[in-house]
Amino acid sequence: MKETSPVEWKNNTLKVLDQTLLPHTKKFIICRNSKEVGKAIVDMKLRGAPLIGIAAAFGMAMDIKKSKAKSYEKLIKEMKATGEHLQKTRPTAVNLKWAISRMNAFAASNKERRIQSLKELLVNEAVRIYKEDLENNKTIGRIGAELIRPKDRILTHCNAGGLATAGYGTALGVIRAAAAQKKKISVYVDETRPYLQGARLTTFELAEMGVDHHLITDNMAGYFISNKMVDVIIVGADRIAANGDTANKIGTYTLAVLSYINNIPFYVAAPSSTMDFSIKTGAEIPIEMRSEKEVTEIFGKPITHKKTKALHPAFDVTPARFISAIITEKGIIRAPFEANLDKVILNREIVAKL
Ligand code: MRU
Repeated sequence: MKETSPVEWKNNTLKVLDQTLLPHTKKFIICRNSKEVGKAIVDMKLRGAPLIGIAAAFGMAMDIKKSKAKSYEKLIKEMKATGEHLQKTRPTAVNLKWAISRMNAFAASNKERRIQSLKELLVNEAVRIYKEDLENNKTIGRIGAELIRPKDRILTHCNAGGLATAGYGTALGVIRAAAAQKKKISVYVDETRPYLQGARLTTFELAEMGVDHHLITDNMAGYFISNKMVDVIIVGADRIAANGDTANKIGTYTLAVLSYINNIPFYVAAPSSTMDFSIKTGAEIPIEMRSEKEVTEIFGKPITHKKTKALHPAFDVTPARFISAIITEKGIIRAPFEANLDKVILNREIVAKL
């Protein structure tokens, strides 16, 4: 079963598959520094929470490699500026902040190294972030596939596949693993208006995997769910708060409520880099507001009266109570989420509050 790799680290540059042109055109662009990576993220040439984190780490690595800094302090100052620039590109996915912080933390814990060797080590750290994501996705797939029964009809939203990660996928990684186990699953793919990640990217990946699937428009989901044609819903995540509230592509919340009232499992699959323990609930997650043109136009062609305004929040937050389980590389986590996320991800017991 073919995996799709959206980025390749080659000769200290990042080769990026331009996802805006998929599924019909497979074109790569080359990013040579953090500014070019930041622009590729803003322009959605690469997207998906884990992938933008990986790209940010490579963006930092490219600048570090080219840096003329001769002291640790100078290098750190440069890294801080690069990190701040990259972090501003998209606000919701915490993986971006996570990857930048990991690069900064790595530098801080290796400050005694000679500057040239520190620069090399930082480049290796970016490669490690990429490789770990790939491994974590495979583990998520293997663990998550245990929740999928033979012949399950699975509904997914947006694209949480190889294209959104280092190359295997989270929600789609679970589907990929279940299909490899010959579970004879089928998939309903929400088209994911307005950016059409489901229609353009998820169907592309499923077709390449050879998994049976149907594209549906987002407003059809209720029909299929209420008519008992969906057995399970599985989605990715952009940020998970300490209590399990989860931000993901706009429309996810609606699906979670539908699954809850129709009594079908709703799973979130995400690596632990998507956890944000610095916020207690989903209310604190910043939601990216995108251009209204992405709603009033389709492929650059207006579909509304010129006086019509539109709104475009790119993500919504699903309260933890609608989530049956969160599948991570560290295990399957169920309610009570606050205690169990803390225990499984941070590996510690919550100390009873006095
Ligand atoms: O706007 P996008 O395409 O970056 O949104 C992507 C999603 O919402 C994904 O579901 C999420 O990032 C998880 S990807 C493994």
